Amino acid sequence: MISNLDLALEDIRASDDAAVAVRREDLEVMLREAREGAERVRRIVQGLKTFSRNEEERRIVLELRPILELAIAMTTNEVRHRARLVMDFGAVPLVEADAVRLGQVFINLIVNAAQALPDGQSEENEIRITTSMDATGRAMIDIQDTGPGIPASIVDRLFDPFFTTKPVGVGTGLGLSISQNIVSGMGGEIRVESDARHGTTFRVVLPPASVQELARHVESSPPPDIGRARVLVVDDEPALGTAFRRILRGHDVAVVTRAREALDRLATGETFDIIFSDLMMPEMSGMDFFEEATRRFPTAAERMVFVTGGAFTPDATAFLARISNEHLEKPFDPESVRSLVRTVSHRRKIPAVSEIVELRAKEDPGARTAGTDHGHRDARHGRL
Ligand SMILES: Nc1ncnc2c1ncn2[C@@H]1O[C@H](COP(=O)(O)OP(=O)(O)OP(=O)(O)O)[C@@H](O)[C@H]1O
Ligand SMILES: [Mg+2]
Repeated sequence: MISNLDLALEDIRASDDAAVAVRREDLEVMLREAREGAERVRRIVQGLKTFSRNEEERRIVLELRPILELAIAMTTNEVRHRARLVMDFGAVPLVEADAVRLGQVFINLIVNAAQALPDGQSEENEIRITTSMDATGRAMIDIQDTGPGIPASIVDRLFDPFFTTKPVGVGTGLGLSISQNIVSGMGGEIRVESDARHGTTFRVVLPPASVQELARHVESSPPPDIGRARVLVVDDEPALGTAFRRILRGHDVAVVTRAREALDRLATGETFDIIFSDLMMPEMSGMDFFEEATRRFPTAAERMVFVTGGAFTPDATAFLARISNEHLEKPFDPESVRSLVRTVSHRRKIPAVSEIVELRAKEDPGARTAGTDHGHRDARHGRL
């Protein structure tokens, strides 16, 4: 849906058709609004999937803004009837954190702010989310509400597990205690300031990412555009192939609906810069496809990216954890597909071992029998 809307917008903007020109503004507004609606749906689904995961903690270098935006999208229903939501994103350092857990912290704090406000007075009340940096370079995230404030007599107990002033069924009193555990585990802290006149502000303070982690992050960031890439899409759902084709206009995109077909094409010597493969397919699954490709076409296997629908079987989860290939979760946005094409295709600039052997063999046929450490690998998959 999103990619179709994007393309329709692009086409309308570029069109020199007179009939379109007359209505361009209206058409653009309609499509833009539909696009925004679709984007909201995508973010909520993505948020549900991201924040409801219960995996082991995984800390990486993160930008705070997208996590806050996702938390805001997830809490829209709680906030909408109670307050205007104001975002005031100032410059803030990258942090080292687990996105899922940090998202849970922000959701807890936003929901608390909303629950402190009466229903139906959204015009008079405000929840303001501000990011900034303190004098020592730490990230500060303030979640401020215009609610009644917290009585001084209970401030000391707020972070106690099961402390709640909410009726049974509304609060369990765990939100703040869990949030504090998560944040202190990241080397940060949560503070609260509250009075009856100004409402309540919860401040999350997090240390900036370390220099070593930042360097690693920069190294793994997507490189600049690489031009036209050869892309193979393997998915039993034909609509998905069409979506990839549209999103990757400007690249050469081949689509097949069965893993066997993909293997046949690889067997003819066809090469691809990146292969997007569904994980769950009838006949041959993405996992079996990968195993066979690893044996017969290792270079192609290295360039496979798995497209997943989120409903993981234990096998699939173990598989994705074991391999180093990237995966792309549905619903995906066009930019993350393009960015994967850039990153994975870029790796092609550093030839795989099998390709080096192949190149040498072409330059000097004698090299083939001269043998290299890796010659056996290629002989096995029959490319030399
Ligand atoms: N923004 C706020 N304004 C006023 N009181 C608040 C605010 N945030 C938290 N509190 C108070 O702190 C208590 C504890 O909050 P906490 O998030 O730990 O639990 P809860 O919201 O009651 O339940 P749960 O988060 O488990 O659904 C709340 O019951 C409420 O009295
Ligand atoms: Mg709470």
